[in-house]
Amino acid sequence: MSEEMERNLALELVRVTEAAAIAAGRWIGRGDKNGADGLAVDAMRSALARIEMDGVVVIGEGEKDEAPMLYIGEEIGNGRPPRVDIAVDPIDGTRLLALGMPGAVAVVALAARGTMYSAPPGIYYLEKIAVGRRARGAIDVGASVSQNIYAVSRALGREKGNITVMVLDRPRHEKLINDIRATGARVLLITDGDVAGSIAAASEGTGVDMLMGTGGAPEAVVAACALKALGGDMQCKLYFRSEDERKSVVEAGIDPEKVLTIDDLVTSDDVFFAATGITSGELLHGVIYSETSITTESVVMRARSGTIRYIKAVHHEDKLSRIMGRS
Ligand code: FBP
Repeated sequence: MSEEMERNLALELVRVTEAAAIAAGRWIGRGDKNGADGLAVDAMRSALARIEMDGVVVIGEGEKDEAPMLYIGEEIGNGRPPRVDIAVDPIDGTRLLALGMPGAVAVVALAARGTMYSAPPGIYYLEKIAVGRRARGAIDVGASVSQNIYAVSRALGREKGNITVMVLDRPRHEKLINDIRATGARVLLITDGDVAGSIAAASEGTGVDMLMGTGGAPEAVVAACALKALGGDMQCKLYFRSEDERKSVVEAGIDPEKVLTIDDLVTSDDVFFAATGITSGELLHGVIYSETSITTESVVMRARSGTIRYIKAVHHEDKLSRIMGRS
């Protein structure tokens, strides 16, 4: 199933996220989520088409009829090897971008064909736990909040509960937040963007030790790709918004309580990931437009080598057609 990929595609993917960030960044703070998203998707698609690969979108903007571009199943590239799965999140944090708030990023990940997880039809959310290298193996999404927090603090060599946990600020997390606080751990709330949140939890020196809570299923797979490169760990579980959702999964013969490990989320160990900042956040600086140039900051990762590169790029307005994929 998995083919050896000789090129470091992460270095090519960065052009894709740069293009999306530059296009969408023009709409920072304009209150129009969909307008910005459309620009990011168009730019990402044109840039992806220029990469030599036989790619299929497995995590995209939606089903074909709802999403004109980058829909699930869409074939991208020139059809030559390597055969790959593509996961796109043209803007993680569309609301952040629309409101001009920190932390919106453009993200893409790529792995050998057939190796990325797809949630069952109609299931959009997963319960997630993400941690860094030192806490690898210490998490269990099937166990209680306190068991996880105590196990992670032990793995990090800290006093019981002396860790910081990032959580999406959502009403559904009220109990989770109370349970975390009851252990003595600190809670950092974010309004959006749990891909960057998972990366923060898995990176050294961010002050975040763990990400917990329910977020988008596609974002979990994209984050798992980055965490494979960072050497971190992640576990997820299906999250049901209603009894009907649970029933549909049971009827499809799927165990509703199944723990998805990082290797279930992306089975390949040769995974590529790129992200470019749109609005400045903890992970990356946002796009800066000046009179004649545009500056972007990106991170690119490859799981096989474990290399993480930060790329600051200065793009010249009058020569931008190449990166924006207009030939
Ligand atoms: P979008 O930019 O696609 O809206 O995603 C932002 C995000 O915060 C994700 O990072 C997160 O996984 C998801 O939304 C959480 O979903 P919800 O906002 O429905 O709770």
